[in-house]
Amino acid sequence: MTDGQRTSRRSQAWFGAQGRGGMIYRSWMRNQGLGHEVFDGRPVIGIATSASELAPCNAHLTHVAEAVKRGVWQAGGLPLQFPTMATGETLMRPTAMLYRNLMAMEVEELIRANPLDGVVLLSGCDKTTPAMLMGAASVDLPAVMVTGGPMLNGKYRGQDVGSGTHVWKFEEDLKAGRMTEEECFFAEGCMARSNGHCMTMGTASTMACVAEALGMQLPGSAAWPAVDSRRMETAQAAGRRIVEMVEEELRPSRILTREAFENAVRVNAAVGGSTNAVIHLTALAGRVGVELSLADFDDLVRAVPTLVNLMPSGTYLMEDFCYAGGLPAVLAELLKGELLHGDQITVTGRTVADNTEHAERVGSDVITPLDAPFQPAGSGIAVLHGNLCPDGAVIKQSAASPHLLTHRGPARVFDSPEAYHEVVDDPELDVDENTVVVIRNAGPKGYPGMPEVSNVPLPAKLLKAGVKDLVRVCDGRMSGTGYGTVVLHVAPEAAVGGPLALVRDGDPVVLDVPNRTLHLDVDDAELGRRRQLWSAPAEQYAGGYTWLYTQHVEQADRGADFGFLRGRRGHDVPRDSH
Ligand code: FES
Ligand code: MG
Repeated sequence: MTDGQRTSRRSQAWFGAQGRGGMIYRSWMRNQGLGHEVFDGRPVIGIATSASELAPCNAHLTHVAEAVKRGVWQAGGLPLQFPTMATGETLMRPTAMLYRNLMAMEVEELIRANPLDGVVLLSGCDKTTPAMLMGAASVDLPAVMVTGGPMLNGKYRGQDVGSGTHVWKFEEDLKAGRMTEEECFFAEGCMARSNGHCMTMGTASTMACVAEALGMQLPGSAAWPAVDSRRMETAQAAGRRIVEMVEEELRPSRILTREAFENAVRVNAAVGGSTNAVIHLTALAGRVGVELSLADFDDLVRAVPTLVNLMPSGTYLMEDFCYAGGLPAVLAELLKGELLHGDQITVTGRTVADNTEHAERVGSDVITPLDAPFQPAGSGIAVLHGNLCPDGAVIKQSAASPHLLTHRGPARVFDSPEAYHEVVDDPELDVDENTVVVIRNAGPKGYPGMPEVSNVPLPAKLLKAGVKDLVRVCDGRMSGTGYGTVVLHVAPEAAVGGPLALVRDGDPVVLDVPNRTLHLDVDDAELGRRRQLWSAPAEQYAGGYTWLYTQHVEQADRGADFGFLRGRRGHDVPRDSH
């Protein structure tokens, strides 16, 4: 504790303290069997783990944390594991997204309040990755992420089964009489064969790739299956690396630049990633003061083809993606086409281009080459504007039906997803293949929490008639594993008086994705009259977290973060209570 450089370490404000305070800080830690010598000024590394049996995608992170710990010890640091909340997508009601900001707040405050010099972030399920990145970015201590890895490929009757994606397929097959209940029970077990998060290119895999593209995970880290021993090797390497990062003072603020976000936006397009990346990246950019607008998600990707052939847009799954070379192989392809900023610094201390030096693309089916891509440039996420979405909306073109990308049809309006579900199986439902299903009050404030409900299943009547897709328009989100011609994230949402609130049954809705417009063909005077009649829905909550959420959540085009969480609040050592 005498070394000048070492005493300047943040953790030494605790463990290097003299007198009663220092005694308190060290003594209680020693009840874990830690000797006095570990408080000698070495980097103290927090391992933030979102392991939880209530978030099955993250349940194994305790094992990943053990591997990280080994690495931290190896490099001469002191690892201290701590739990954070976990936002499990499958169980949490009303939606895990309601709690992303709460988790981000918790991660931020836990890092700042404790004697940490650096942190390893262990995430997995959809919202846990952005929540951890957002929290860590606002503290700006050196941080490296290790996502928990995807499940092994699902297998049902010899065929690959994608988590999430096949839930919708099985449901449609059940409704259309192509599968029995018993077959569905059996199939649900086949879909989740191992620890890990969804192995489709859903939001979890997307955010893992995005975290790697941003430079916040070690190269290759996104793709190792959760149960692959190399997941643990990578975790151990991350443990070693974070100790060096503390020495180098390599902080998120140096890594999360505008250029890093541009890389991530393009990588999201190249991997056929989830629309949810739009929301999460926007929120993360808000934490670090990088200007990233909805328009960037369209403009930046126009030249980027989809290289990765994974469900829901394609055929394969994350295990295949791993064997095909993982994200470094994608980055290398994009660099060839000068579609990335190769000089961006990453957690390795080296650049994106350096990191891909030894990248190898194995085969051409799963990760396709730039000159013969899986899908042509400009087939990914499109950002729409128009009188129905003045602040924007998004659609994932690769998950949509080409014939519906330009479409005019009469609206059939539902004030909630539940209102739609009540009638969806009614054989008399007045819908046909031209109908535009409008689901509203599923936005950040209205639901609240902006759930993944927008890709509502098709009416049974139409499925039986062989209709495979309908245009749907909604102020909510869609699971990254979902598909269909679904216009999402309509902003402003209906609950705050967005034009979606004014749509009536039969109004013509005009979708023109090539021209990036979504238009309600009703004249302004009539819309003005309807606005006079509109009143905001009554506040549903008088207290508690959900009240806080509804008061402070921003609209989808701003990332649905809380306004008061934007920006960086740093890592000054808080005052001492002892
Ligand atoms: Fe957790 Fe898909 S439900 S990653
Ligand atoms: Mg999801």
